[in-house]
Amino acid sequence: MTGKERMLITGGRTLEGQVRVSGGKNTAVAVIPATLLSDDVCTIENLPDIEDVHALVDILRELGAKVDYEPGRFMTVDPRPAEGYEVSYHNAQRLRASYYLLGALLGRCGKAHVPTPGGCEIGSRPVDQHLKGFRALGAEADEVGGIIKVEAGQLTGSGVFFDISTVGGTVNVMLAAVKAKGTTIIYNAAKEPHIVDLANALNSMGAHIKGAGTDTIRIRGVQNLHGTNYAVIPDQIETGTLMIAAAATHGDVVINGCIPTHMDALSAKLLEMGVMVTDYDDAIRVHSTGMHRAVNIKTQVYPGFPTDLQQPMSALLTTAHGTSIIQETIFEQRFRHLDEIRRMGAHVRVADRIAIIEGVNELYSAPLTASDLRAGAALVIAGLMARGTTEVYEPGYIDRGYEHIEEKLRSLGAEISRETGL
Ligand code: EPU
Repeated sequence: MTGKERMLITGGRTLEGQVRVSGGKNTAVAVIPATLLSDDVCTIENLPDIEDVHALVDILRELGAKVDYEPGRFMTVDPRPAEGYEVSYHNAQRLRASYYLLGALLGRCGKAHVPTPGGCEIGSRPVDQHLKGFRALGAEADEVGGIIKVEAGQLTGSGVFFDISTVGGTVNVMLAAVKAKGTTIIYNAAKEPHIVDLANALNSMGAHIKGAGTDTIRIRGVQNLHGTNYAVIPDQIETGTLMIAAAATHGDVVINGCIPTHMDALSAKLLEMGVMVTDYDDAIRVHSTGMHRAVNIKTQVYPGFPTDLQQPMSALLTTAHGTSIIQETIFEQRFRHLDEIRRMGAHVRVADRIAIIEGVNELYSAPLTASDLRAGAALVIAGLMARGTTEVYEPGYIDRGYEHIEEKLRSLGAEISRETGL
């Protein structure tokens, strides 16, 4: 994160045209560590060119793997020379998903030391369920001095019952269990599209995983995994952010290369607001001409409304006609972007995990600071809607998860640029 940059967005431009969505961040950050479980070379395609992926390249190299990486194209990982089991503090702090090295290294060599991860500050983000899962497979798992240490002589398949639906916990247990002895059954598993994609990637390496996408995942351990050539799915949250940007500017945008069924919760809300949404096989058209109606949103696990789109969506709702109520059920502090957007003239009240938004006619520009990835996306949406030129500081947060966001928005007609070295 440079901290010495800002985005400049001149609002009021209508977005029009076609744009292609990039590969999924939250699937990429699970599939890349999974390559360590293979006994041969893996090629991963459709990876987004984002900071989280760059950080994982450095982590794999730090562990001794041979990585060829062409940003935005493919990554080839030869895990065979990797002998390390410790991730450095510096690299672990660069992304939340560094904790997937716990499951991947535990499955690979029975041992991992990973400093508690960095990532976005959106409330306390405990890892108790991950550790519970590792322990159920026979590992010792503890956090000592800021480092999570897991170790097992032999991992043995077992039942893992999550107290809550956790994406990270489900990924980590899947990674640890694929080469465990016997069968692991994850109950109350997360069902997000990236869980299914990770299962498909692991199965393409010879794993036996069934039930991904339901709340019960069954993993029959295998001794070895072979190499693969796997392309990750398109990014659900980038797709949604572009859909919201199209609506926010009363535009007409076709988002190509996406999976429309992953977007059903958002599409339904946009339709409820009066936005036209049309699904094609692998594209979505979002067309908005008239006034937007206020809607209520409650974030939920998939297939409910995703917490990651709550922030961009709440920016859009600041100018909808009427009062919108947003309930954030997944993370404790995911409304910090609203403090910023309030400075643009939005009428917003936040009480604990509920935000009440009274729509105003228009937002006006202001200097703003991104506090996390999706908060940054929300500020960009607000900037696209506002009168005047909005400055968004700390755009490095946005680079963690959105590939070339300025270029994509500019190609649709947005006036957006970045200044560095301030
Ligand atoms: N939780 C626990 N204990 C655990 C694990 C989770 O209490 O051991 C709680 C969390 O504090 C949270 C809830 O369970 O309140 C759900 O957390 P989950 O584990 O599902 O989330 P995550 O794995 O930390 C992933 C995504 C997030 C996304 C959430 C929810 C990745 C790398 N991150 O986080 O993505 O918001 O699932 O869908 O996949 C983002 O992309 O901006 C982002 C934050």
